Amino acid sequence: MNKKGDIPGQDRVATVDLSEPLTFPAEAYTSPEYAAAEAEKLWARVWQHVGRVEELPHFGDYMTYEICNDSILIVRANDNRLRAYHNVCPHRGRRLVPVPKGSNGARGNSKAGRFFCGYHGWTFDLAGNNTDILNREDWQGALTEERVCLSPVQVDTWGGWIFINMDPDCMPLRTFLEPAAGLLDPFQFENMRYRFRQWTVFDCNWKVALEAFMEPYHVAATHPQLSKYGDFYAWSKAQGLHGNDGFDTPDQAAEDSAATTTVHRTGKGADARRMMAQMQREFWETVGAATTQVMVDAAERLVDELPEGTPAAEVHHHWLESCKKDYAALGVKWPDMSDQQMAAAGLAWHIFPNMSILQGPVFALYYRTRPYRTDPNKCIYEAVAIERFTEGGAPATEWQFKEATEENWRKVIAQDFSNMELVQQGLQSRGFRGNLPNPHQEQKVTNLHRNLASYMGTGAPTPLK
Ligand code: FES
Ligand SMILES: [Fe+2]
Repeated sequence: MNKKGDIPGQDRVATVDLSEPLTFPAEAYTSPEYAAAEAEKLWARVWQHVGRVEELPHFGDYMTYEICNDSILIVRANDNRLRAYHNVCPHRGRRLVPVPKGSNGARGNSKAGRFFCGYHGWTFDLAGNNTDILNREDWQGALTEERVCLSPVQVDTWGGWIFINMDPDCMPLRTFLEPAAGLLDPFQFENMRYRFRQWTVFDCNWKVALEAFMEPYHVAATHPQLSKYGDFYAWSKAQGLHGNDGFDTPDQAAEDSAATTTVHRTGKGADARRMMAQMQREFWETVGAATTQVMVDAAERLVDELPEGTPAAEVHHHWLESCKKDYAALGVKWPDMSDQQMAAAGLAWHIFPNMSILQGPVFALYYRTRPYRTDPNKCIYEAVAIERFTEGGAPATEWQFKEATEENWRKVIAQDFSNMELVQQGLQSRGFRGNLPNPHQEQKVTNLHRNLASYMGTGAPTPLK
């Protein structure tokens, strides 16, 4: 165990160069032994996001989070404080708050400010103290408070997300999240609220599902309809435990500016005004996120507001200024962010171990994947859109289970889904020689395996040559 505040393996938080051609084996995706070890060596020791702060606004609001065979209970307790516990009764081990079968967690409110175990009635306040034991004297004084209270779990927040860590000696959340947190703070995710949240279950490893969203190298083949907007050539880099990417050109001559690194850049096409409008509309219709209605509307006005032949960079700048004005008119603050800050953040992030965020000034689309129990061939997959809304304008949302059809998830995400189970099948082939991640465009993937290996003690990427 590490001492509090200690950073295990400084190389995890170091940004390393992974541009050398590297390979890593398929074991991390397919081995039952590896998956069982992951529960101990990875999931029991890392910070992982369990939901959004907005889900627990009132005293007594609670949710559970399931990871491998553990269930964590998170509750808004006294003093407005979030607390987390292992969701187990210390008497004879009943799950304290039952998690409905086929759900991705229990949610509710403990109005009375207590949790009551339905088996023998042991009762706990929201601070985790045991407040009632039937016939306590039968234990002849052996039941100390430490013996009968709920087992605490570390809990903290960043960007409006609630994170937990089962390791009592873990490093602070902020340390764990750097440098991602510092580079993403300007987006002020804490001011965004849910627009939708959907989940499903796939017959693939959680890493296969996550990696389907970690690089734009797949766009040309998986989303050919998007190629008309640009080449989707990307830089990709390790940021300690985490990683990010952004648009690039093969000769790497592109200006490192917001216009060339944001998902909204104008790419190919004779008329940048029309291309921008078309791209925005297509994203809105076929992703259902990664932009907003206000931004789509502003893009559709470009053709009226700018003369034909306006250069792409100017179109992009004008459009962003229009978005800002439109949001200001609605009373929604657009975060103050320089082009440099936006460029440094890039297009999308992998937050170790299991979260992928595609960010913008007023929206984010993110994915979370987790093992289904400890089955290496199955995972829970969630996709969430958050957005800045007017005061009180956020819609009421709930988690929705959606079968993985195009109708339920829209075209682009359904295209990504189409690879997942095939990848899982292929990774089990005795003819597969190991992963060959692109040394320029898929460093985020390599970095995930570099960091996984530091927790797991196996599977580190090795030179290809
Ligand atoms: S198992 Fe909870 S009171 Fe007995
Ligand atoms: Fe994709």
